[in-house]
Amino acid sequence: MCGIVGYIGKKEAYPILIEGLSALEYRGYDSAGIAMVDSTGLTIYKDKGKVDRLKEITRSIEKEKGAIGIAHTRWATHGAPSKVNSHPHTDDKERIALVHNGIIENYSILKDRLKEEGIEFRSETDTEVLAQLVGKYYENDLAAAVRRALADVEGTFGIAVVAKDQPEVIVAARRGSPLVVGVGDNELLLASDASAIVRHTKTVIYLKDNNLIELHRDGIYHTTTLENVQITPELHQLEYDAESLAKGGFEHFMLKEIFEQPQTIKNALRGRLLIAEGTARLDGLNIVHQELRSIERIIFVACGTSWHAALVGEYMIEDIAGIPVEVEYASEFRYRNPIIGPNTLVFVISQSGETADTLAALREASHKGATVLGICNAVGSSIARETHGGVYLHAGPEIGVASTKAFTSQLTVLSLLTLLLGRMRRISHSDGMTIANALQAIPSQVEQILKQNVKVKEIARIYHHHSNFLYLGRSYNFPVALEGALKLKEISYVHAEGYPAAEMKHGPIALIDKEMPSVVLAIKDSIYDKVISNIQEVKARGGSVIAIANEGDCEIEKHARHVIYIPKTIPILSPLLSVIPLQLLAYHIAAMRGCEIDQPRNLAKSVTVE
Ligand code: M6R
Repeated sequence: MCGIVGYIGKKEAYPILIEGLSALEYRGYDSAGIAMVDSTGLTIYKDKGKVDRLKEITRSIEKEKGAIGIAHTRWATHGAPSKVNSHPHTDDKERIALVHNGIIENYSILKDRLKEEGIEFRSETDTEVLAQLVGKYYENDLAAAVRRALADVEGTFGIAVVAKDQPEVIVAARRGSPLVVGVGDNELLLASDASAIVRHTKTVIYLKDNNLIELHRDGIYHTTTLENVQITPELHQLEYDAESLAKGGFEHFMLKEIFEQPQTIKNALRGRLLIAEGTARLDGLNIVHQELRSIERIIFVACGTSWHAALVGEYMIEDIAGIPVEVEYASEFRYRNPIIGPNTLVFVISQSGETADTLAALREASHKGATVLGICNAVGSSIARETHGGVYLHAGPEIGVASTKAFTSQLTVLSLLTLLLGRMRRISHSDGMTIANALQAIPSQVEQILKQNVKVKEIARIYHHHSNFLYLGRSYNFPVALEGALKLKEISYVHAEGYPAAEMKHGPIALIDKEMPSVVLAIKDSIYDKVISNIQEVKARGGSVIAIANEGDCEIEKHARHVIYIPKTIPILSPLLSVIPLQLLAYHIAAMRGCEIDQPRNLAKSVTVE
């Protein structure tokens, strides 16, 4: 959601902080601010709007203002986007400045208490309460003041703090909101997401929950728990470089990421597909085969697009491995009292590995004694670190807010998991080989679909003015219908509903008229004929149909107004192909409507608050 950047070293902080903020803008972007400290004191600039607005208001400032600073992009939770609510926030004496990701849940009680003590507040934010607390406790030892303040607060935080009279130190701490420290050559960087600092160093420390770090000049750092017990953090190397954060000639990150999918699917398969044995290996699960064989139930927990991938996973695993699977929204799971038996395996699925609800669900399942495994993209993320084992997607950084390549990589990993479990329990060597060979062919089949980009764009041109869309699919392609509808609504602000095609007649059919196009996944599988009947039902009510169908299907053009053909694969893998035209369709409709595709309104890439 919000983004944090910090720098302390020998270089000028300002350009590094601004560049870092731009890299983080995809996480949240309704306001931005910066605080720099030097021997002359503390300087703060902030305003409503994007990082470009911050650049504008800082154009005339002295850029050599110092070699230490903190900066923030905000995604509003408490208080509307405005200059006064933007971070950094200060205490009332303006001795300290603080940026914060997360939510201070008891801010209202603390605010009343501080007001009674005569402290004046300027903003409506929960963050200002934390800044005022640090200011209240500050007596020339910034880390001590931060520790005391954090002892008073409930909620989640990733914070960076500087003090006016200490141009030699940044203090950062976290609980529930990610922070990563970049260890450079006599310099230290801080960010809520490694993409903000990878241009400067690939050596990082992932700050753990309830840890505090003091960053000093000359690259010296000191890490403790919030209770001031010293710890030695582990150093990690980032797996990607700055180039992967560029658009690479594409107009938007989303389009680049759609086109990366042949490669990202290959990356997810690499070293894991054992064609000759007709099975898969997923070493990161850290589970012995004996234990995998005794699983009686699987629970997938996720949000958004990752939840849609989980739903496909449910269909696959029940079908091929015969293990009962449940799919839960993380936000529901965490507050229910879920029943987790002794042979239940919980998988949390998250691209970012930082989604607050998914992380909380993971912890709830762990408390109940479950083995919890992760399927994550972001290496070293909180979810990746807190799970007992798991599988990385290796899709590289996904910058577009609308998830695309992560979805197909999640499906790839779930297919591998299905193959592994299926071979242990139910399916023969030859059936395993059929799945393995079909998986191997997927990247080149995706490439073929991407060649139809222009055709999808033409269809988008016909329909981009429409205000409502229905997405219909059955079986493996029902979750794809949900995903197609989500893609369209989040980036084009067009109302779209995904439905199991046969459920349409239980309600949504009332919506159909000539103004409401239906996108129907009409894949040649065992229920193809039923889907054709559903298309007839739409047509009979004047609705036009855009069908996604298999190459060689001569029947479909009689029924649908437009057809986008995709190569044939086995039914369980069809979502990996059928979702591609839907991603392109959403992209082109949003582009034609003039929407901000990579940074849609109200959304953030990584939802680190409840
Ligand atoms: O990082 P995660 O996979 O945990 O994120 C979950 C959702 O927030 C995410 O998939 C969201 O729905 C995307 N914007 C969808 O495109």
